[in-house]
Amino acid sequence: MQQPNYKEALRAEIFDYISKASLALQTESYVIGGFVRDYILQRETATDVDIVSVGSGIELAKKVAALLPNQPKVQVFKTYGTAMLRYEDLEVEFVGARKESYASDSRNPTVSSGTLQDDQNRRDFTINALALSLQPDSYGQLLDPFDGLQAITDKTLITPSAPDITFSDDPLRMLRGIRFASQLNFQIDADCLASIAKNCDRIQIITNERIVAELHKIVLSDKPSAGFLLLEQVGLLSKILPELTALKGVDEQQGQKHKDNFYHTLEVLDNISANTDDLWLRWAALLHDIGKAPTKKFDKKNGWTFHGHEFLGAKMVYKLFKRLKMPLNAKMKFVQKLVLLSSRPIVLATDVTDSAVRRLIFDAGDDLDSLMTLCEADITTKNHLKFKKYHRNFKTVREKVKEVEARDHLRNFEPPISGALIMETFQLKPCREIGQIKEVIKEAILEGQIPNEYEPAYELMLACASKLGLVPEEKN
Ligand code: CTP
Repeated sequence: MQQPNYKEALRAEIFDYISKASLALQTESYVIGGFVRDYILQRETATDVDIVSVGSGIELAKKVAALLPNQPKVQVFKTYGTAMLRYEDLEVEFVGARKESYASDSRNPTVSSGTLQDDQNRRDFTINALALSLQPDSYGQLLDPFDGLQAITDKTLITPSAPDITFSDDPLRMLRGIRFASQLNFQIDADCLASIAKNCDRIQIITNERIVAELHKIVLSDKPSAGFLLLEQVGLLSKILPELTALKGVDEQQGQKHKDNFYHTLEVLDNISANTDDLWLRWAALLHDIGKAPTKKFDKKNGWTFHGHEFLGAKMVYKLFKRLKMPLNAKMKFVQKLVLLSSRPIVLATDVTDSAVRRLIFDAGDDLDSLMTLCEADITTKNHLKFKKYHRNFKTVREKVKEVEARDHLRNFEPPISGALIMETFQLKPCREIGQIKEVIKEAILEGQIPNEYEPAYELMLACASKLGLVPEEKN
């Protein structure tokens, strides 16, 4: 690895101000953590910077703010002894160097002040314990007492202290470790991995919000299966997403096996990740088969079946989001919808009829492209000929969708005959018949019996109403 130029890492104006402020307070201050790590890794420049001061972080933040030309507001978090200010596009967090120990039932530390090295020692991984000096006489010097630089070269995640202490002190670090492994394509040191497996029960004391924040980062990594395989291996996945571990395993009855839906799911997730960075579409891929565990059945005639797994899966999505305190908003509905429709294009790929394509466009609406992306990612067969055939069929489906869309304008379908028009024509108050007429018209359009246009729909409305004994107003 080329020797990084650390002074270059500190080129933003703010570092100069911090340096001056700590000189004025006669303390020492250092840039530490993700900012230094990401600079060395040449990852996108981080926008949050962590500063550790050998003294009070809050005082240093206030002094820096006072020196800055725009004197920004300092947000103080007294309970944690930290403070934060924003300057230009950077969010800078200040903390005093500390030694700390944690009560066993909580993440809240009992803090006592310490040296820089004490502080580096209590951090999660050696790659996150690298510090850059802001002292005028050693400005830009790297302080690396735990060989974090070597760990970066070796692509290894290892804790500065004994792993049991590090993970038990703050169990979120177990997830962070797996997230970094997945995000950076690093290996977790064997002793650390064993310690995570040993301490995995402690994840219970971590809030769902923090867990989900890490899960999102795993889902967004280039090859998310790496993270999920690790989560499974250490026993964390069954505690966080038991719906996924329930998919594990292959059953055999009368010589018939089904595929392992857990590994299949991870393959689908990796496949889709090559084509989209959309967090929620990736979540949809992760959850698309969760209904398969509870619906799995074997019978002599049909072999293994998972009838209704899409429908049940969509319901499970709601429960899962609720349990993890993920927002029950449009994103959740999007994931539900994709899970519900996840088998539709595949079925189509074997028999592409116009009416089935029309129904798909109608049901998927604006999410049709996402659904097609999911379904193509769902092709994981190892049979080369089948793989080619399925992809070819998908191309046909996509072409057919284009053709039908251009002709029938069905995306975000607005019925050509509204309920209001039916009420007005037959002088009706709201009643069941209105819905029945609308349904007949919609079905006729989707089946291709009439075009998606006003005139023929109006004629059908009259015919349908007459069968229901309704007479248009002007004939009364
Ligand atoms: N840290 C820690 N234990 C945690 C969280 C954070 O020891 N549970 C330390 C690490 O030294 C970390 C630093 O605090 O580098 C800053 O944490 P944070 O901003 O949450 O993460 P980053 O490492 O900066 O990485 P990312 O932004 O990717 O989360």
